[in-house]
Amino acid sequence: MLKGLIFDVDGVITDSATYHLKAWRALATSLGIDLPAAADDELRGRSRMDSLAVIMRYAGRTGQYTEAELQAMADQKNAMYQQAIQSMNADSVLPGMRQLLEDARQAHLTMAIASASRNAPVILEHLNLTQYFDAVVDPATLTHGKPDPEIYQRAQELLGLAADEVISFEDAPAGVAAIKAAGQFAVGIGAATTLAAADYNVPDTTHLVLANVIHAFQQA
Ligand code: BG6
Ligand code: MG
Repeated sequence: MLKGLIFDVDGVITDSATYHLKAWRALATSLGIDLPAAADDELRGRSRMDSLAVIMRYAGRTGQYTEAELQAMADQKNAMYQQAIQSMNADSVLPGMRQLLEDARQAHLTMAIASASRNAPVILEHLNLTQYFDAVVDPATLTHGKPDPEIYQRAQELLGLAADEVISFEDAPAGVAAIKAAGQFAVGIGAATTLAAADYNVPDTTHLVLANVIHAFQQA
């Protein structure tokens, strides 16, 4: 029986995924790296240092920098990102999401956040959504990033639920892979071609209706 919902933040609750990608692209440009468009889907959902590793792989520069140099690059990207999210407010919630959270609350579903971002709690504050969530996984406590299932398993544990009692929402291929590896029901938000591993797909959040998602979960 369905008892809880687990949400990624960037690209699911708000459009901050775009800000992450812009900041990574600005960092890459400053390093003389020309990232192909295909890199975007690989960067989505990955932890800060895993994202940097993806960029270095595309640039053919894996192993060329010290840990301190990589950390400085990650800090530079994070500073640009934090600047960009300053302007977020309650209007920055993606269309349909606030309604979905409200419907879930009415249905007495418990809710957790499974975002790889250390900035996610600040974003939830900006959006005035913190009060909807019973648990927020601290990504600093994790050993492995998405697509490893650890973050979704932790969220489920924090809610005190079993894998077949939750629905999890993602916009990233790595995130959908993490949900499926955790044995949970995955809702993919975005292009069905890149999120084909999800159990239920919508092209964007305007198509998200809790009753429809629950119906799909019950049919699975
Ligand atoms: C994920 C984003 O939610 O968080 C990634 O999809 C990002 O793009 C990751 O790299 C880590 O975020 P942060 O804010 O801790 O650098
Ligand atoms: Mg995301």
